[in-house]
Amino acid sequence: MLRKLEQTTTFLEKYITSKPDIALILGTGLNSIADFLNDKIQIPFQEIPNMPISTAPSHEGKMIFGNLNEKKILILQGRIHYYEGYSMQEVTYPIRILQNLGIQNLIVTNAAGSLRKKFEPGDLISIADHINFMGTNPLIGKNFEDLGERFPSLNEPYDSNFRKIIEKIADQNEIKLQSGIYAAVSGPSLETRAECLMLQKLGADMVGMSTVPEVIVARQSQIKILGLSVITNYTNIFHSKAHHQEEIRRNAALARNNIEKLIYEFSNKI
Ligand code: HPA
Repeated sequence: MLRKLEQTTTFLEKYITSKPDIALILGTGLNSIADFLNDKIQIPFQEIPNMPISTAPSHEGKMIFGNLNEKKILILQGRIHYYEGYSMQEVTYPIRILQNLGIQNLIVTNAAGSLRKKFEPGDLISIADHINFMGTNPLIGKNFEDLGERFPSLNEPYDSNFRKIIEKIADQNEIKLQSGIYAAVSGPSLETRAECLMLQKLGADMVGMSTVPEVIVARQSQIKILGLSVITNYTNIFHSKAHHQEEIRRNAALARNNIEKLIYEFSNKI
């Protein structure tokens, strides 16, 4: 693992010649922020040694390095999901790369289903905390002390200062931004009504199939995190119709301008 990481980093350092200030992981349907970058370098995941490659639709795999405002930003477009059959180590390999590149700030975005009536499709939510319901943990197995401690604290996994900053930006720009707890499940089947009710009772406000593995590894790496969810659908608690990927992508697009504005301003403030 450490040797693989060394290989990957050595390759990337040929392109990424100075340390990025922020990394950004883009979720379903949120790819367009990359259009705002100046002096972009794009590296397809296939060209990066040891990089797992996503098979999910709408998750084009590439790394994009460029300038946003005065900041250097590294975008990971096309995340790897556990439900695709990758191991948790593969799912979180990109975070280890960020750690090895010395990146200290991370924005993670995702698409999520709503467990609360007030979280409507198209709404943006700042993730306040999470519940790991994936049935596993990316840190299971041998721990490499060089990468982080055996039992990292998940007290405040989503940086409270980042959350204050993003709330202020949302206020100033009249962007509706709520705050909520994200439950991560493995998927790929969507949740039954009974499962949604259970998650809701346990304190979750929204549900999705990503983010939590990355956040766990990023915290072990002492990377500070801002988490943003786009509500793409009401879950089965609120209706009895089946969801389609198409609907999820369309609703992600609804939030696109707002999320772009938030990220643009946020990159300026940290
Ligand atoms: N459930 C799980 N993951 C999701 C959902 C959902 O309803 N919507 C988008 N990602």
